[in-house]
Amino acid sequence: MKNYLLHDEWKIIEEGFNPEYNEISESCFSIGNGRFGQRANFEEQYSGKSLQGSYVAGVYYPDKTRVGWWKIGYPEYFAKVLNAPNWIGIDVQVDGEVLDLATAKVLSFRRELDMRRGVLIRNFQVKMVSGKELEVSSTRFCSMANTEVGAIRYEVKPLNFSGNIQFTPFVDADVVNQDANWDEKFWVVVAKQAKRRSAYITAETKKTAFQVCTGMKFSVSRNGEKIKEEIVPTLEEKFISLSTTVACKKGDRVVLHKYAGIISSRYYDKSQLMSRCMEVVNEAYDSGFKNLLKAHEQVWSDKWKEADIVIEGDVAAQQGIRFNIFQLYQTYTGDDPRLNIGPKGFTGEKYGGSTYWDTEAYCLPFYLATAEQNVARNLLVYRYRHLPKAIENAEKLGFTGGAALYPMVTMNGEECHNEWEITFEEIHRNGAIAYAIFDYIRYTGDWDYLPEYGLDVLIGIARFWAQRVHWSEPKQKFVMHGVTGPNEYENNINNNWYTNYIAAWCMKYTVEAMDHVKSTDADRWAELVAKLNFDERETVAWMNIVDNMYYPEDEEKGIFLQQEGFLDKEIRTVDTLKPEERPLNQNWSWDRILRSCFIKQADVLQGLYFFEDQFDEDTHRRNFEFYEPLTVHESSLSACVHAILASRLGMHEKAYEMYLRTARLDLDDYNNDTEDGLHITSMAGTWMALVEGFGGMRAEDDMLAFDPHLPEKWNSYNFHIRWRNHFLHILVGKDGAALKNNADQPLKVKLRGEIVEVPAQGEVKF
Ligand code: BGC
Repeated sequence: MKNYLLHDEWKIIEEGFNPEYNEISESCFSIGNGRFGQRANFEEQYSGKSLQGSYVAGVYYPDKTRVGWWKIGYPEYFAKVLNAPNWIGIDVQVDGEVLDLATAKVLSFRRELDMRRGVLIRNFQVKMVSGKELEVSSTRFCSMANTEVGAIRYEVKPLNFSGNIQFTPFVDADVVNQDANWDEKFWVVVAKQAKRRSAYITAETKKTAFQVCTGMKFSVSRNGEKIKEEIVPTLEEKFISLSTTVACKKGDRVVLHKYAGIISSRYYDKSQLMSRCMEVVNEAYDSGFKNLLKAHEQVWSDKWKEADIVIEGDVAAQQGIRFNIFQLYQTYTGDDPRLNIGPKGFTGEKYGGSTYWDTEAYCLPFYLATAEQNVARNLLVYRYRHLPKAIENAEKLGFTGGAALYPMVTMNGEECHNEWEITFEEIHRNGAIAYAIFDYIRYTGDWDYLPEYGLDVLIGIARFWAQRVHWSEPKQKFVMHGVTGPNEYENNINNNWYTNYIAAWCMKYTVEAMDHVKSTDADRWAELVAKLNFDERETVAWMNIVDNMYYPEDEEKGIFLQQEGFLDKEIRTVDTLKPEERPLNQNWSWDRILRSCFIKQADVLQGLYFFEDQFDEDTHRRNFEFYEPLTVHESSLSACVHAILASRLGMHEKAYEMYLRTARLDLDDYNNDTEDGLHITSMAGTWMALVEGFGGMRAEDDMLAFDPHLPEKWNSYNFHIRWRNHFLHILVGKDGAALKNNADQPLKVKLRGEIVEVPAQGEVKF
């Protein structure tokens, strides 16, 4: 765990340079706008430890798989989010000496991410090897108002000398992915040009042939006056730069503004890319930095009005939740159903592909409650569009008749993951995709989603489960062998309670969904029967499985068993582990991990979270009390689920401990892995831990319900929620709670179990 970032309500601050943590900071200070984003690399050269990363949404590369022992069914390629051409670079030389924070003496340094405004700021003073001292400040943002634009203001002030400062803004397409399987470079440059103060480079990905045109235009001023510079262009194979030298006196302020355009062939015809990029860059240049920034800040200000959570009395917790909300909206804004939310967003390469079950299980509730309905709907439509590939994927593994197995990791619907214990076995992901359809309809009341898109997906998934189980003679039940549950510290197990439960639930829900469509839209149902070649006997088989599924339990302890035989393990609690053994995945052999009872992330408890109302409180309590002490939370997706369950059970201290762990997971580097990038998808879990955990919010019986609790350390908290056509504000303080209905229609809600009508524009205290 680290503790070097300062606590502040709206800002992430690094005071003093910590080169040993630079890669962690590069992750934490990342910026993005849903269409592109980047790690907080420096503009000027840096020869110290750094992970260079710029990413463009939806632009990926299928890297040829590299595994030791090939197994039939493995995907040949792993589609990777690509490190894209770097547009932030500005090399600086002072009388021929390169400015590099790894070689200069850093006299002062402050890096700041202002989340309210969405800007990354750096101020530092350095003494170069020559003894020359400089002050530098830079401000950078990826525009949320115009998502094709990035801008930088870079100011240099000579402190103890007069001399020549050379600035070289550049675009570098000669970039690599650190996680490339074959050390291959993924981009080829297809066009480039430099014209006085602007330059453009179009690069194309190998195999996928996506093109991205990255352009820049800059201006320089000295003490507020524009300079008519001499500009020297350099065009290399994959690199373009424009150099200019400014004569400065001690104390002068030289400011370089760099405007960038990032245009991808996902949105434009390739023949138009460069001209579109020029248009975008010229418009940005003509608007100027201040205006661009103002428009960008306005979008953030509107976003915060809808999605902010205010915590009074605990700055660390406040910073944590804002950081999470901020990073989520930098990653996904929801206007394009081809995009999704990668576990690392635009902050790193790890997890290569874009989409995991994380989206459906963790991110969906956040977007449902904080954005317009279409944003969450687009996340579902993304999977609908991938249904044919999910069917192909299942066919590769031997399933038939339209059975669909969604990939564990994907960009375009094809499976990208290739470890058999996950690719073939971690099939519970299919369940989360079906659950998300249920969750979306429960929240929005948008039943039209079923006939339009949802039912096709549900039927594909139900068909898969029906073939994946088999009948056990000795048990006289349906069983499921050879799976990996959400707890990846167990592989190839039989009858994982969570997977069996969600599989049966999917089949049951699909039948209910079919009945709904049949009774409300008979024509569409007839169409679907024909399209999917559906035979009514399939439902009989599904319901037979539902009625006869095997669920491992221990009656004496009154708990569900994570898998058959779980209690045969040596049961030890996490508090018997030595601190130096944690995290286990960095200190123990895999063999030891697999045989141990330690749980990576919520598994049985994940099921209790999803299907809360199907179990009584005692069942929740017994399972929580048994599994929580065995859980090491080495997946970022774990603590949030435990926080919600603990809140529900009135274990407030535990809930708070779990909440802090998820809210500050990256800022405090709990799992010693923030340097790889941020845990974007688990950030939505933090939001859930607060709103569903402390706030006790649920969608039930076509109503929103709240049962809030105030953590002891806090004076109050408040948050906004979108519910159908209503916009609600909930405040929880020491004297009770209040719910304000900011809509022109009254609203029925459940407050601590009682149904109450909140008048239009009115407030109810409870
Ligand atoms: C977790 C998975 C998750 C993946 C991506 C893994 O560590 O165990 O549940 O889908 O990370 O976040």
